[in-house]
Amino acid sequence: MDLRATLIAALRLQVEWGADEALADAAIDRFAAPPARARTEAAPAPTPQATANRPLPTPVAHAAAIAAACSSLAALREALARFDGCPLSDTATNLVFNDGNPEAGLMLIGEAPGAEEDRIGKPFVGPSGQLLDRMLASIGLDRGGYLITNLIPWRPPGNRSPTDAEVALCLPFLHRQIALVQPRLLLLLGGLAAKALMGTSAGITRLRGTWREIEIPGLAAPLPALATYHPAYLLRSPGAKRLAWADLIALRRRLDVLDK
Ligand code: URA
Repeated sequence: MDLRATLIAALRLQVEWGADEALADAAIDRFAAPPARARTEAAPAPTPQATANRPLPTPVAHAAAIAAACSSLAALREALARFDGCPLSDTATNLVFNDGNPEAGLMLIGEAPGAEEDRIGKPFVGPSGQLLDRMLASIGLDRGGYLITNLIPWRPPGNRSPTDAEVALCLPFLHRQIALVQPRLLLLLGGLAAKALMGTSAGITRLRGTWREIEIPGLAAPLPALATYHPAYLLRSPGAKRLAWADLIALRRRLDVLDK
């Protein structure tokens, strides 16, 4: 095989494996040795006893402590932008935090950003977002009527499904965001968000369409949440739109009762 064909085959393999975005002009050698640190004044070494007794924070406990220290959405966005505990932030172009109206009383939660969202830094702006906008417009809602965010705020490479470890790391930030927004209702888009927030392994077909009260750390009372199909699934499976429509009607009715 000549060099050109070899390079094309190597590029094709990378795209198939999810490396489908050019993130910077120059390549980064992630295997290079880290630069030598500047010498700083050494802190007194802890005694062996103190080291042995200190509990090591797990990555999830560390994420939860950072999230809990945020007292506003701006502080939470800032903390996520600085958080280096989730490897997804290394491969994403932008943090995708939220969009819409935090005062509206309704919060929508999707799965994770796709390519368009990653490029622009806003949730649900790609094809599934456009379908969602049309669905919500049919019950009189635009982005002034809800706040929309994702379970995972960084795009997984090649749109692969987030791992359990990534979900566990990001969940404390999402819980904190919900606690700061204090919505009256949640709409969960797709199985991943529904399972994570409802704390179950049941699939979306079982979870959708029924209001459930869910506990959110930091909120005094359980929050009514409705799960429905993810718009990306509806793009692939138009037959499911009938059930998604029933879910939208259930949401509209509940909003109307709250608005009375
Ligand atoms: N799918 C999601 O779950 N979230 C987005 O922001 C876009 C697509």
